[in-house]
Amino acid sequence: MRKPFVAGNWKMFKTVGEARQLVSEMVPGLQAVAEVEKVLCPPFTALLAVAALLEGTDIGLGAQNMHWELSGAYTGEISSAMLAELCQYVILGHSERRMYFGETDETVNRKVQVALKQGLTPIVCVGETLQENEAGQTAEVVSRQVRKGLAGVASAFDSSGNSSFVIAYEPVWAIGTGRAATASGAVDVIAGVIRPALSVLFDRPAAQAIRILYGGSVNGSNAAEFFAESEIDGALVGGACLKLADFTQIVRAAAR
Ligand code: PGA
Repeated sequence: MRKPFVAGNWKMFKTVGEARQLVSEMVPGLQAVAEVEKVLCPPFTALLAVAALLEGTDIGLGAQNMHWELSGAYTGEISSAMLAELCQYVILGHSERRMYFGETDETVNRKVQVALKQGLTPIVCVGETLQENEAGQTAEVVSRQVRKGLAGVASAFDSSGNSSFVIAYEPVWAIGTGRAATASGAVDVIAGVIRPALSVLFDRPAAQAIRILYGGSVNGSNAAEFFAESEIDGALVGGACLKLADFTQIVRAAAR
């Protein structure tokens, strides 16, 4: 049984003050849903403040990106060691990073390796663009992103026996567009492409234990449709994660 997982990707929203307010309001509702692994991913600047508010709760904290080097002359970058002091998770390879900041399968892979060494749980994002989808290249693109992004990852489990990383299938055309994939369309890729690609990299029990999320215009009203599918282990939520009622509803829906 894979534990349901819901992460909120705040993107470039919320000052420290705004983050404190939203998290204070969110904690009671989220904590009430013990069956779900919940993670908030605010901007770097709010991590410290949010960490303090999440202390003693069962809600995890994640960053949205990091650099692959441990330290060095990389102006503006943040290392895995810096994150490990503050949080437990890190989103890697989000399509917005691939699209606007030159992220490639190779840099995603370097980051995944370093994050795992540092004890962070990467949430590795994969997904095809609209153009790739329309050209019938979804399986090829997503399978490549999984195989290259996770190349050389020795184990699918961390030292406590939990899955050491999570995958988020996020079709780029569904992100921030209000046009979510259908649940069955997401299952086609998750069960038909991603899980088989994991089976090439890991042995069967390990490949089966890895959580695969859906992301792309998930909201309070459509979340339950996705979670009704046993192949969808949770969601990576953008826009709706900044809305108290919606995000709480999504987390509740994941406790199936
Ligand atoms: P969205 O974003 O929920 O706003 O579509 C999802 C994501 O980018 O992770």
